[in-house]
Amino acid sequence: MSTAADLPLEDRARLLTGADFWTTAAAPGVPSIVLTDGPHGVRRQVGDSDHLGLNAAAPATCFPPAVAVGSSWNPDLARRIGGAVAAEARALGVAVVLGPGVNIKRHPLCGRNFEYYSEDPLLAGALGSAQVQGLQDGGAGASVKHFALNNQETERMRVSVDADPRTVREIYLPAFERIVTDASPATVMCSYNRIDGVHASENSWLLTTVLRDEWGYDGLVVSDWGAVRDPVAAVRAGLDLEMPHGPHSTARIVAAVRSGELDEAVVTRAAQRVIDLTRWAPSDDEPAPDLDAHHALAREAAAECAVLLRNENAALPLDAAAGTVAVIGELARTPRYQGGGSSHINATRVDVPLDEIAARGSDLGVAVEFAAGYGIGDDADDTALRDEAVAAAARSGVAVVFAGLTEAEESEGFDRPDLAIDPQQVELLRAVAAAAPRTVVVLVGGGVIELEPWHDEVDAILEAFLLGQGGGAAIADLLFGLAEPSGRLAETIPHRLEQTPAFGNFPGELGTVRYGEGLLVGYRWYTTRKIAPRYPFGHGLGYTSFTIEDLVVEVTGADTATASVLVTNTGDRAGSHVVQLYVGGGPGSVFRPRRSLAAFRKVELDPGASTTVALDLPRRAFAHWDTPRGDWVVSPGDYPIEVGGSSADIDGAATVTLDGDVIVEPLGMESTIAEWAAHPVAGEGFRTALAGSAGGMPVDQLLELAGSMPLGKALDMLPGPAGDEARAQLEAVIAGQ
Ligand code: BGC
Repeated sequence: MSTAADLPLEDRARLLTGADFWTTAAAPGVPSIVLTDGPHGVRRQVGDSDHLGLNAAAPATCFPPAVAVGSSWNPDLARRIGGAVAAEARALGVAVVLGPGVNIKRHPLCGRNFEYYSEDPLLAGALGSAQVQGLQDGGAGASVKHFALNNQETERMRVSVDADPRTVREIYLPAFERIVTDASPATVMCSYNRIDGVHASENSWLLTTVLRDEWGYDGLVVSDWGAVRDPVAAVRAGLDLEMPHGPHSTARIVAAVRSGELDEAVVTRAAQRVIDLTRWAPSDDEPAPDLDAHHALAREAAAECAVLLRNENAALPLDAAAGTVAVIGELARTPRYQGGGSSHINATRVDVPLDEIAARGSDLGVAVEFAAGYGIGDDADDTALRDEAVAAAARSGVAVVFAGLTEAEESEGFDRPDLAIDPQQVELLRAVAAAAPRTVVVLVGGGVIELEPWHDEVDAILEAFLLGQGGGAAIADLLFGLAEPSGRLAETIPHRLEQTPAFGNFPGELGTVRYGEGLLVGYRWYTTRKIAPRYPFGHGLGYTSFTIEDLVVEVTGADTATASVLVTNTGDRAGSHVVQLYVGGGPGSVFRPRRSLAAFRKVELDPGASTTVALDLPRRAFAHWDTPRGDWVVSPGDYPIEVGGSSADIDGAATVTLDGDVIVEPLGMESTIAEWAAHPVAGEGFRTALAGSAGGMPVDQLLELAGSMPLGKALDMLPGPAGDEARAQLEAVIAGQ
């Protein structure tokens, strides 16, 4: 293998842009490799290529997309999926899989939310990190994307994100940071959008200062497909590989080096990273993956991802007493199991929910009848279909209605206009609920759906998202209690759009989107502003019940702590619960969300069994981004710790007291009187002097009155020799620091 330094400038420059849509360029002694989507399966196009999922791809297992895996709260599951995707990638000749996507779900209408894990950075980072580890341990390079602040599809190639630095650091970057520092992804993919006016592909603050200088990343930065506008500016900012092929890029880079506009060493370094990336190239004789085993994993994963939102009067699980089950809804027969766009996988097989429910029913002696209820993308007579479905519901013991978003309603490339499903489906749901003795709704879709108009009229709701090719079997297993629902919401379900944090600030206007909600993204908004959503982040039911007790929190080191709780399965079935630990505010030195997820663990317990769960709270769980200082700071003081089964369901609370960072600010004439008085070194003397000058007023009262005044200003108001003397003394203190 050549090194970049061995190659002529033209060859080095050629390596910095793709050879075509999916392959890197070759050079003497440097092979070409394939990068392809991702993330929940391999989209290896063998004929015509595109980045919108339009042309055919080789068959591959379609695992649950991130919207579902997010709800598993199970990093080990993400790791196993990553391993299986890697095996298929290698067998298909792919070196790098373009995923996972770890952008934060800032707004429920983002058309690509199905490709992202969560509204919470800790959860997104933990799952993304595990998926990267699974992929790379399995021999495929990962490409964590889309770096960064790409939280909408509207104007995604141009919109400029205006977010304050603290919000960027605490909400939008941590998932990437964790993956970079814990899992060393082979590549990081920059996003399309602009940040403060600068395109991500040309953003040296993002690609070099943060990613490399602060986080120590030494892998390759690849562009999102078509994200490069100016190849010279991109390489200079820290981009290594432009994808797909940029027809003029090589010539422009060579010319820029020759004219002195671009440092040749930068080109050599980027070319070396492309050369280093070729180590992920699979061999010509990779073993064929075990597609049956992968389908079984896809099904197992799907069962762990669905969230049982509501289950009144133990409507679920279905049993023999259900009599006839009326399965209603075209989505039961024509399932949606993944989103549209670049992640679209050509599944090896697809479990159809209707067939699977019929099969489980027949095992139990339960008859299953089907009625389509509505048509999808056709000119079916919805009224006739609805009447037929209502009649079937009235004859049944229980109606299971599949409702949700169709392919045309959500995809990469555009955002949804509202949270609603088709009004025909809503009408159907209500009519069925009125006719059937019991109604269970299975919700399908990659984005949050508004439940309001019909929520209270149905007995149970299983949020099935998009569950991948094994979803149909998983849904049947969950409905009949052959699998235990253990998913928990990774994003809040609001009552209505107007409740959501970014309402009015999404998707932006006049070329800019302002992240006006700041830190209050997702449940941070609802908990802080005391707004009750329909279902809170972290919520999910099972067929058994749990308690979380005996929270003990101890400081373990410099601003780190550990928490332990006793978790008990108090029901009569085995099941899983997710212990969620939140930091509930903290010292008042900065504004803090009411709750921030700090640690979590999914535990599986037999009926009656208990276990003690210990969770580490790293320093970062308590730290805030100090913008003026440009660093993470832990304020000294008390931090409430809360544990529970969701962000709104708290079972125990404790407080931990941290020493925090002792920050000695240099004092000056611009420092306020209060800052002088509080200073750990000069404060005591200053207070004594203040006491003598306050005409008998107690110092604390004086500080209340005048504490916010800069010292220089106060001295200006103290004329004559006394003022001069005080100024001289204080200037001596300043000079002596
Ligand atoms: C998407 C990426 C994808 C790439 C290649 C882009 O449009 O944003 O996520 O990996 O296309 O298909």
